[in-house]
Amino acid sequence: MPTSQRLTELPAWRALERHRDATQGRRLCARFAGDPHRAERFSTEVAGFFADWSRHRVDEETMRLLAELAEARGLPARMAAMFAGERINTSEDRAVLHVALRAPAGERMLVDGRNVVPGVHEVLDRMAEFCTRVREGSWTGHTGRPIRTVVNLGIGGSDLGPAMATQALRAYATRAIEFRFVSNVDPTDFAEATRELDPAETLFLVCSKTFTTLETLTNARAARAWCLAALKEEAAVARHFVAVSTNAEAVAEFGIDTANMFGFWDWVGGRYSVSSAVGLSLMLAIGPGRFREFLAGMRAMDEHFRSAPLQHNLPVVLALLGVWYTDFLGAQSHAVLPYEQYLRRFPAYLQQLEMESNGKSVQHDGRPVEVDTGPSVWGEPGTDSQHAFFQLLHQGTHLVPCDFIAFARSCNERGQQHELLLANLLAQAEALAFGKTPDEVAAEGVPPGLVPHRSFPGDRPSTILLGEQLTPFSLGVLIALYEHKVFTQGVLWNIDSFDQWGVELGKQLAPRIASELCAPEDPPLSHDDSTNGLIRRIRRQRRS
Ligand code: F6P
Repeated sequence: MPTSQRLTELPAWRALERHRDATQGRRLCARFAGDPHRAERFSTEVAGFFADWSRHRVDEETMRLLAELAEARGLPARMAAMFAGERINTSEDRAVLHVALRAPAGERMLVDGRNVVPGVHEVLDRMAEFCTRVREGSWTGHTGRPIRTVVNLGIGGSDLGPAMATQALRAYATRAIEFRFVSNVDPTDFAEATRELDPAETLFLVCSKTFTTLETLTNARAARAWCLAALKEEAAVARHFVAVSTNAEAVAEFGIDTANMFGFWDWVGGRYSVSSAVGLSLMLAIGPGRFREFLAGMRAMDEHFRSAPLQHNLPVVLALLGVWYTDFLGAQSHAVLPYEQYLRRFPAYLQQLEMESNGKSVQHDGRPVEVDTGPSVWGEPGTDSQHAFFQLLHQGTHLVPCDFIAFARSCNERGQQHELLLANLLAQAEALAFGKTPDEVAAEGVPPGLVPHRSFPGDRPSTILLGEQLTPFSLGVLIALYEHKVFTQGVLWNIDSFDQWGVELGKQLAPRIASELCAPEDPPLSHDDSTNGLIRRIRRQRRS
């Protein structure tokens, strides 16, 4: 059960505050100097990833107290409740069982007393059959031509997960089919994605959990019109459109045969859905076998999360570090820095996963939270990011904990370029942690006036996640790692990480404003002065 206890009155919380005050001046260089086994003590290996969190402002006591806090918040019981299919998404009264999407066929996972795993595998098998047909060319377009481009129409979790993963696993994807993702209601997104495509060779995946999302349905209608303008006959829709949704009725109403629909369930949240049929574009790209390897990676992390003791449980460790920085050391943002070009969409994916999940200010029972919750998450791949915003990470006034993500081997080895990439990652983490003192700078002969500018304070924390190589399996591990991190933080903050009421108000207001912008005559306006003025200005500019 969610808790009614006061977080800040828990003995572990109080102890952490005292511990913070007592250790605040302890620098990372001193922590390393004082413990020759620090790197070993604060690292672990899970499912092919080596995780090193030794460059954090923590020691064993910090981690022990944080784990104690997690225990006091009932984390083990909350984990068990999630895996047992209990309705832990309290504000929507739903189970949260994305872990069932990667459970092997023989496993039992129950929602309302029903084993959901057979249904998961039924959909996976249908997806596999469909993907094989498209990839082999036996699923053809209306005129008999093979599919050369797949366009996923979806937004949020119905876009970010599959777009990120399809990009991430491009090294394993067929090159015979091109994959595009249209999410924005901005007409430019659709126009540019389809500009030079041949409708006879294009397959649209309309991907929407609810099948009511304005952006996706608008783009789906645009796609149907674009397709029918060329192919003329309504029957073409059946060969060029498939749906991924939980809402069969709305799919049928839109005109897509539900025989061409791949379903999932209300116990899969949008931002946790990449391992469901929402991953159809990914399966089309990498094939069913590799998609199963991707699921196996997620499953490996699910098993680790479910069974490892809290202090050695990687998602829990990352979550606790996040709570430490957010609530005890005042950090407001968190940077994710993949040193792997294929992961360039990973920070954007994590933004939704983390910020839509934990950007909350009320607890399960409606009381305000007592402390800060999820930070802003942001990032870009290295080394590009080094030449963009690392200045702030090294010398800015904000504390920004970083996750560096890399792989020992590249999917595209070329001379020593990959060593160069990894050297940059290690150099950045080292520079952030240990900096360069004014004395060291002065000893290099730097003029006194420039010494403050050229000194690096250090003590800037980072985690290094090092895999062997980016593969479907390792990507699965990585995604599930962050999914469970987010869940763990939600438990500590006692918030519902699986709802997203904060996106609703804007959605309610937009249709009314749209009708005011489109009205043939100037409509009476009753917004605030600024909104009214902007509506009038846009109307004027669009008419002139
Ligand atoms: O607006 C937020 C949201 O509900 C996300 O949580 C979700 O991933 C996205 O919209 C898309 O929703 P759907 O898959 O139902 O179209």
